[in-house]
Amino acid sequence: MRTGEKKLNLDSWIEGAVNKIGGEVKNGRVIMALSGGVDSSVVCALLSRAVKGRFFPFFVDHGLVRAKDIERINSVFIKKLGVPVTILDESDRFLKRLEGVSDPERKRKIIGNEFIKVFVEAAGKIKNATHLAQGTILPDIEESAQNPKGKAKVKSHHNVGGLPEKLDLKLLEPLKDLYKDQVREVGMKLGLPEELIKQHPFPGPGLAVRIMGPVDRKKTAILNKSDAILDQELKRSGLYYSMWQAFCVFLPVKTVGVTEGERTYDNVIALRCVNSEDAMTASWTNIPNETLRRISKRIVKEVEGVNRVVMDITDKPPGTIEWE
Ligand code: XMP
Repeated sequence: MRTGEKKLNLDSWIEGAVNKIGGEVKNGRVIMALSGGVDSSVVCALLSRAVKGRFFPFFVDHGLVRAKDIERINSVFIKKLGVPVTILDESDRFLKRLEGVSDPERKRKIIGNEFIKVFVEAAGKIKNATHLAQGTILPDIEESAQNPKGKAKVKSHHNVGGLPEKLDLKLLEPLKDLYKDQVREVGMKLGLPEELIKQHPFPGPGLAVRIMGPVDRKKTAILNKSDAILDQELKRSGLYYSMWQAFCVFLPVKTVGVTEGERTYDNVIALRCVNSEDAMTASWTNIPNETLRRISKRIVKEVEGVNRVVMDITDKPPGTIEWE
């Protein structure tokens, strides 16, 4: 807890937020882009209580999201909480625009611009929308104030910047006075599962910054499968929740290997596992050799197209967390 801060009374905070949102929205209609991350998920759960029947969240599948994110939108929001999230499969459109693009900044720009177009089109189908909800939290505001030239990248909200002006909607930011740990507490109280609430950060441009060079479906499938194995093994060994981030990176280099006596020539997966307080600095984590061995064996055995696993042992600085 930060100096001078009182513990949040969750029931009364939620009741207050629901009433405040209701008072602001009145008979209006609210839209939002749900990314599946902690902040937007908590906003989505809150809004679904505050403006029942007039809340229209979208999840944009840009082809670079993880399979587990889409599954979770279905199982948690649609099935468990009954929130009518529209999943827009726009993966063909994004992947086409990204064909042959290697430069990470160009990838981000293409995804960001296309995302805005998709969202504006989807919003246009909701007649008389009045508000746009966003998952801004207190550190986003503090970091933007310290860094007025550009929004701090770590907390940029999935490319939805600029949308309220474009759509002429009023902005709803119900979490803007909360720190991340408080957002998590509110989320748990609203019935979101621990697995969602305690998930590692996942960048808005998604797997695009974890595939070096041009992206395509084959590479995203390889990365998704490898990442699922890393995730399972770290959860199984009890290490996942003590780390800031753990993920796989797809390297477009081929190396020679041997599988069941046959020579292979396949891709490399790098493991990136770090500890951090705020993502500004980070140190690579120690993982027991047995766990590393299991992860590596499973990836090479279960993921077609990979015959080598390496580990990134670079702190930030001088490295960054994502490879881009
Ligand atoms: P780096 O790679 O700069 O990342 O050390 C610091 C933290 O920011 C996350 N990250 C992003 N998050 N959009 C996001 O929403 C992005 O474009 C983006 N780039 C990096 C990264 O995962 C890490 O937690």
